[in-house]
Amino acid sequence: MQRHSDGERRAARRIGFVPTMGALHDGHLSLVRQARGLADAIVVSIFVNPIQFDSPSDFEKYPRDDARDARLLEREGVDVLFLPRAEEIYPAGFQTRVEVAELTQPLCGAFRPGHFAGVTTVVAKLFLAVKPHVAVFGAKDYQQLRVVRQMVRDLNFDLEVVRGETVREADGLAMSSRNVRLSAAERERARAVPRGIERVRRAAAAGVDDAAALVARFTREAEAAGARVEYAELCHPETLEAVSRLREPALFAVAVWVGDVRLIDNAVIEGAAASRPAAGR
Ligand code: PAF
Repeated sequence: MQRHSDGERRAARRIGFVPTMGALHDGHLSLVRQARGLADAIVVSIFVNPIQFDSPSDFEKYPRDDARDARLLEREGVDVLFLPRAEEIYPAGFQTRVEVAELTQPLCGAFRPGHFAGVTTVVAKLFLAVKPHVAVFGAKDYQQLRVVRQMVRDLNFDLEVVRGETVREADGLAMSSRNVRLSAAERERARAVPRGIERVRRAAAAGVDDAAALVARFTREAEAAGARVEYAELCHPETLEAVSRLREPALFAVAVWVGDVRLIDNAVIEGAAASRPAAGR
């Protein structure tokens, strides 16, 4: 992979990179299309990274279909599909971790110890293998995007991290590789997640600015549908620190369990002040 990328760089071709764990859906493909607009040669990696999973069973159950994924990527005109084996990424004796200290503490980090260290370790290795000029990460994994940007800044990786917007199903559910594990009944329950976020957005636009009251609106919606809220939090979009009042646009981020499937979603929420037309216009 490094030799190939060295060749692309010598030929002055910009390398665009989309790292994935496979089980590709339209959300991934929209990141690939975005990368295509920013670079000459597109590399997509598929590697189900064992060290970012909380439990061996979640790792085992993660959907895998490399042949289908390869067909989809070929259709998108992707130049390279990088499919490393686990022993190439983590050879015997591997003992290094790359860890972002603070941004990994709240939200998912509070419930998934070691998860983000697993992500940043593998993403650092993938960056060093692929040598991209630009890498695209989806905003559905907002905390991951923020953590990767911090790592790139802190460790002087010479590349740009670009945000790709969340792609949603017709009913609003954010696309995720985990959605295929939802039964029909669970899929129905999962719709409460985007519905709950929309309720929060509407309440905020109508003037509710108390974070606890906004969180309660989301929790009521999700629990009424039979989903279990792991966390729902209003926080600063850069530092990810919890905010108690919606004074400026804030990130509303949630993790919800539907059956044994964990779903995450988020939206930047603006308060009533931002929704009011400016005076004098
Ligand atoms: O978002 C993902 O699919 C993974 O966390 C990533 C970035 C490919 C690292 O394993």
